[in-house]
Amino acid sequence: MRNGLIWVLWLLGTAMAGGYLFHAIKGPQQQLFLPGKTTYGHYQIELQCSACHDEGNDMVKQEACISCHGEELERVGDSHPIAKFAKSTDALKLLPMDMRANSALVKSRYCITCHVEHRSDGLAATKGGMGLTQPENYCKACHEDIQENRVTHEGLAFSTCLAAGCHNFHDNSGLFEQHLKDHMHEKPNVVSDEARVPKRDFAQRHQQWVKDQGKSIIKLTMATADAPRDVKLEKNQLIAWQDTAHAAAGVNCTDCHNVKDEPTGNLIWKDNPGYATCKTCHKDEVHDFLGSRHGMRLDQGLSPMTPGMARLPMLDTARDIQMTCNSCHSAHSFDTQFAAMSACMQCHADEHTLSFKNSAHHDAWLDEIAGVGAAGSGVSCATCHLPRVQQKVEGKMQTSVMHNQNDFLRPNEKMLRPVCMQCHGLPFAIDALADRKLIDSNFSDQPAGKHHQPSSFDMLKQKMNLEHKEKNKH
Ligand code: HEC
Ligand code: HEC
Ligand code: HEC
Ligand code: HEC
Ligand code: HEC
Ligand code: HEC
Ligand code: HEC
Ligand code: HEC
Ligand code: HEC
Ligand code: HEC
Repeated sequence: MRNGLIWVLWLLGTAMAGGYLFHAIKGPQQQLFLPGKTTYGHYQIELQCSACHDEGNDMVKQEACISCHGEELERVGDSHPIAKFAKSTDALKLLPMDMRANSALVKSRYCITCHVEHRSDGLAATKGGMGLTQPENYCKACHEDIQENRVTHEGLAFSTCLAAGCHNFHDNSGLFEQHLKDHMHEKPNVVSDEARVPKRDFAQRHQQWVKDQGKSIIKLTMATADAPRDVKLEKNQLIAWQDTAHAAAGVNCTDCHNVKDEPTGNLIWKDNPGYATCKTCHKDEVHDFLGSRHGMRLDQGLSPMTPGMARLPMLDTARDIQMTCNSCHSAHSFDTQFAAMSACMQCHADEHTLSFKNSAHHDAWLDEIAGVGAAGSGVSCATCHLPRVQQKVEGKMQTSVMHNQNDFLRPNEKMLRPVCMQCHGLPFAIDALADRKLIDSNFSDQPAGKHHQPSSFDMLKQKMNLEHKEKNKH
């Protein structure tokens, strides 16, 4: 018996060393070959080995990281892009840094220098969901001279560079010096009307598009629904569809339900068409959703994510709800106010979520949906996590809902510009986001204090004073 087991283990060991089983076995068994626990960032897709590893060997593909994260890093103007470390002209300029860092620069051309995965030694597991490996004072490797170059940085420990509200490694867009300078005197609450959440403009864009085609929009009713005769929909569901923006914009039953039959290429009716059908008209929303922690499994062709599989606390009653477009937007009624808060609360059950109802934000949201507060003055879960972003697409500005809730989540200073600054001053917002207890209570109180001692704003004032004195000397 025991001999048999040893044999099996020996066979397994050799086969693994040969890299054979790694590729020959597909499906859940592959989990056995994971060397350790996969980070929070990627565990949902851990069984899709080929998403990150080469087919022929166990190497990690650098392009894989970039194909999934490159777009975001580029949009936020990554302050440490690998290109910076790879370009030959820069390399020359950076040579002194490079030598000092004992080639940290060379290594920094690879994502996995700093981000690792499923390590059995627990190295990355202890550092949150990002698989970070570098020692706390890592920044010193390349920025050792910062204390000489900046009086304000004298005496600061290198372990504090990444402290809340100071610096981010990739996305520094809410924290760079000029930005801090431009907003340092803002009051906690900005209450001007234009400083509120902008209006979505998908409907206008669609109307314009229809006009450009030389067509006009025909509002549909129950009488003009084009489902085949044998398809029955409950009367209240028909009314739900008739009352939505879809029916008003001429989107008929078959626009969603007719799906291409794979072998024949014919359009056939399907009762539950899935997210691919939404993509015909809502390309951006689908793209962003698939890149998020809600849609990343679907993106890999795996079954949809469910609360039952989650590491975050979720409601027991939600265990088997499948995460698709319809988990927030029900099939025929598209109530975006429901989607913005109540939908989230069907599944999420962490302390932060459960505390939301005690916050001033929630009060403002109730006012807005009751029509007491102005449009865009309330704060729902979606205001912070699926914010309305204004961006240029094909040369034109548009405002749409960002369906990747992770794009503005971590490090949380990413939320400053697209969210908090619509209603709050920058110093207040930084302090609030640096206060972990306040996040847990979903901002039901004032920030406990300054984000760091001395704060970035104190340091900026000190620097400006020095510059002022220097100028007056001459
Ligand atoms: C999201 C990306 C990702 C997925 C998916 C993934 N891995 Fe990895 N894997 C990595 C990274 C990054 C490393 C490098 C870790 C390091 O350097 O510590 C790695 C390292 C490894 C190693 C160690 C290799 C070595 O050279 O030391 C093994 C073995 C491995 N993975 C197996 C798997 C298997 C089996 C699967 C599928 C069941 C899988 N991985 C899925 C990203 C991934
Ligand atoms: C198939 C697409 C895919 C690949 C390949 C991939 N990632 Fe990810 N990664 C995701 C998604 C989706 C998430 C979760 C959503 C998010 O945080 O952006 C994530 C999360 C992360 C996080 C955590 C971010 C956070 O907010 O906590 C880091 C760091 C990360 N990935 C780095 C990498 C690196 C480095 C590689 C290459 C070894 C890599 N990823 C490969 C899709 C991918
Ligand atoms: C491998 C070398 C390297 C490491 C490690 C490194 N940096 Fe940098 N950093 C650079 C280079 C190169 C620049 C660009 C300098 C320039 O343009 O003069 C830069 C620029 C910056 C800037 C200016 C920001 C901007 O948007 O231009 C800040 C702030 C910064 N780094 C902070 C950090 C922090 C914090 C860490 C530690 C987490 C760190 N750096 C680690 C190489 C590095
Ligand atoms: C020199 C170290 C280093 C390298 C190289 C590096 N990262 Fe990071 N990365 C970090 C640190 C540190 C953080 C934590 C964010 C912070 O504290 O600002 C981070 C965070 C992230 C995040 C979370 C989101 C965000 O905005 O911070 C993603 C995604 C990510 N890295 C992807 C990548 C990819 C993809 C590559 C390769 C192209 C890469 N990183 C290369 C150090 C590195
Ligand atoms: C905007 C896209 C869209 C439009 C327009 C639409 N449906 Fe649906 N319908 C869906 C989706 C998505 C589902 C699947 C819901 C699920 O799986 O939970 C669905 C489900 C159904 C079902 C299955 C039973 C049920 O209640 O879930 C029937 C029957 C149906 N639709 C009929 C219709 C008819 C009739 C019309 C026109 C009056 C129509 N649909 C218009 C998206 C649409
Ligand atoms: C044939 C094109 C088409 C398809 C397919 C389609 N939609 Fe739409 N959708 C539209 C148009 C047009 C509007 C804007 C209508 C308006 O506000 O005037 C819209 C609006 C919406 C809205 C905003 C509603 C509001 O009240 O502001 C949501 C949410 C939405 N669609 C979700 C979906 C989902 C989910 C699917 C897939 C199940 C889907 N749509 C399929 C064309 C489509
Ligand atoms: C986590 C919940 C959630 C999921 C999942 C979700 N949505 Fe949304 N969606 C929202 C919320 C909330 C709004 C409205 C936010 C607002 O008004 O600011 C919205 C708005 C929209 C709109 C309005 C137009 C715009 O400006 O973006 C469309 C279209 C839309 N969603 C399509 C989709 C499609 C297609 C999917 C699936 C790929 C999807 N949504 C998945 C929550 C969700
Ligand atoms: C069908 C259930 C469901 C609904 C509805 C839902 N979520 Fe989620 N959400 C999840 C699951 C499952 C995860 C992944 C958690 C994990 O991996 O542990 C997640 C992840 C997240 C994350 C990322 C957490 C992190 O640490 O990276 C945020 C933020 C989030 N959801 C916010 C929302 C908001 C806001 C809404 C409503 C607009 C919403 N969710 C609606 C199930 C849901
Ligand atoms: C005022 C903005 C704001 C509002 C409103 C808000 N959140 Fe958050 N949420 C945050 C911030 C900030 C974080 C922390 C990000 C970080 O630093 O990890 C967070 C974290 C989360 C996480 C990840 C939790 C974890 O432990 O990793 C989830 C899930 C989430 N929020 C869901 C929700 C839901 C659901 C609602 C509505 C009931 C909501 N949030 C309302 C700002 C907000
Ligand atoms: C759409 C506007 C809006 C947005 C966006 C917004 N807030 Fe608020 N916030 C408010 C309003 C209104 C109040 C209540 C102010 C009052 O009563 O004086 C408030 C109050 C607060 C409070 C104090 C709560 C208390 O009980 O004293 C904190 C902390 C806070 N917000 C943090 C944030 C952070 C952090 C963000 C970004 C993640 C954010 N807010 C985004 C409108 C907003």
